[in-house]
Amino acid sequence: MRETSVLFVCLGNICRSPLAEGIFIAQVKRLGFESRFHVDSCGTGGWHAGEPPHAGSIAIARKRGIDLSKQRSRKLVQDDFSAADWIIAMDASNESDLRDAAPKGFPPTRIARLLDFASDTPRQDVPDPYYEGGFDRVFDLIETGCSGLLEHLIDESEASA
Ligand code: 4NP
Repeated sequence: MRETSVLFVCLGNICRSPLAEGIFIAQVKRLGFESRFHVDSCGTGGWHAGEPPHAGSIAIARKRGIDLSKQRSRKLVQDDFSAADWIIAMDASNESDLRDAAPKGFPPTRIARLLDFASDTPRQDVPDPYYEGGFDRVFDLIETGCSGLLEHLIDESEASA
């Protein structure tokens, strides 16, 4: 079965998208599906390139059994659009920046917002804890979105098998 490549994107790639990467990988591993997915994250901005995730993201992830400490921030590049099957934005602003940066003809349905896949929250955007704090709540929202996304991708790959 061909690997599905998923890229999580936020603004700085130090708070939300590193959490999404770590949480999604943990969920995939729990199902024993490591060989079916390639998972990465980046930011639309490059201010923190080369840095580890925010201490608040590392701490909440560690509390929930996930190690983010080896991740390093990087900025989105044009090659990401050819490499990823799914580009998952954390909020409307990230999504809009991604759509602006996408090459001409890029399939619009390959860009989505994480909470599009979360059925039990009325929220559409993962709030940015860099400005507002609340890493616990952000972890929970991202976890819910990642579960829904994983379920969707598994259903999709089984339907096309
Ligand atoms: P993130 O949060 O997009 O969830 O990683 C931010 C991190 C850094 C900045 C903004 C948002 N910043 O402006 O440096």
